[in-house]
Amino acid sequence: MNIQAFSPLRERHSFHVDALARYWVDYDSVGELCAVLRDAAGFGLPMMPVGGGNNLLFVSDYPGILLHSCLQDRSVLEENDREVLLRVGAGHSWDALVAWCVAQGWGGMQNLSGIPGEVGATPVQNIGAYGVEAKDLITAVEVLDRETLGLKTLPAVDCGFAYRHSRFKDEWKERYIVTHVCFRLSKKPEFRLDYGAVSARVEEQGGLQQGSEPQILRNNLQLLRQTILAIRDEKLPRTDKVGNAGSFFMNPEVDRELYLRLKTLYEGLPAWELPDGRYKLSAAWLIDRCGWKGRRQGDAGVWPAQPLVLVNYGQAAGQEILDLAREIIHDVQESFAVRLHPEVIILGEDA
Ligand code: EPU
Repeated sequence: MNIQAFSPLRERHSFHVDALARYWVDYDSVGELCAVLRDAAGFGLPMMPVGGGNNLLFVSDYPGILLHSCLQDRSVLEENDREVLLRVGAGHSWDALVAWCVAQGWGGMQNLSGIPGEVGATPVQNIGAYGVEAKDLITAVEVLDRETLGLKTLPAVDCGFAYRHSRFKDEWKERYIVTHVCFRLSKKPEFRLDYGAVSARVEEQGGLQQGSEPQILRNNLQLLRQTILAIRDEKLPRTDKVGNAGSFFMNPEVDRELYLRLKTLYEGLPAWELPDGRYKLSAAWLIDRCGWKGRRQGDAGVWPAQPLVLVNYGQAAGQEILDLAREIIHDVQESFAVRLHPEVIILGEDA
């Protein structure tokens, strides 16, 4: 276990803004986590689990204890000729897990290649990209109950998974800490190529090979992984080069009436009908149309290749990035009567 007081957070989260945590704790076992929770109980400090810090914006110092899992174990719970059930520690790198599954010839995660962060965060915000979401793969989430210090296994159906959301984000936020996540992978996977340029890019590489032999399956999974990595590389800044947290905002959902009104006003408005009759709009498009793409205020900016991503070009403070986000929210609201909501978790917000 590693405990650090007044711990600098700049290198511990992907926005790379300067902030301190009152305490930072790396724990190597569930027993250590229990010990920390027990010892800390009397101090009344806030506590929060963190993974790779890829979805956080610190606007001020964190006054409590940040708990980081180093549980990186990975085991096969069940396997047959169709599927594999995996159990993975919360501290395992997400992309290393995707790469490993692809190399084994197990399908399901390949479209989620290149997403930074650790396994423990995947159920919390139900990570998603290129037509696949973590909820399509997660079968159960193992947690520590902060009150009883007992372990529990929560079936996926109980986790309230929705677009970039789960019960871990609100009602379970103070209650459970994710220790392990269980995933179902397929040995006879269906490939999702129908998102944006994915299918065309796969064809450019010669397309998927026909056949069900294990080597062909591995080649196809690898081709899709490399394609996704290449697309991401073109659109999204690498967090080790330019501070960012991926999409800063969620794609907004609006009712049919507003959608129809906007559609007549703006030709080519990208929108997707939802099962409940509402419409999901593209936040990137709305921000782009407000003229924010590529703009920069000091070291806080809007990424030129994907305006949904706010970046720290070097020395931006968390507050400067938040100010920029608020200006964008204001402009999108004024222009389109659509409210953008941050996907990133903002800590220490002033209002
Ligand atoms: N667009 C523009 N201008 C641009 C870029 C995009 O108008 O400069 C419009 C286009 O109409 C495009 C649409 O935005 O068709 C969608 O763009 P994209 O395919 O890049 O997807 P996104 O909806 O902007 C979401 C996720 C990303 C994920 C991609 C691919 C959210 C909040 N974001 O972005 O996730 O990588 O789809 O699946 O749902 C993340 O969560 O951190 C993240 C990067």
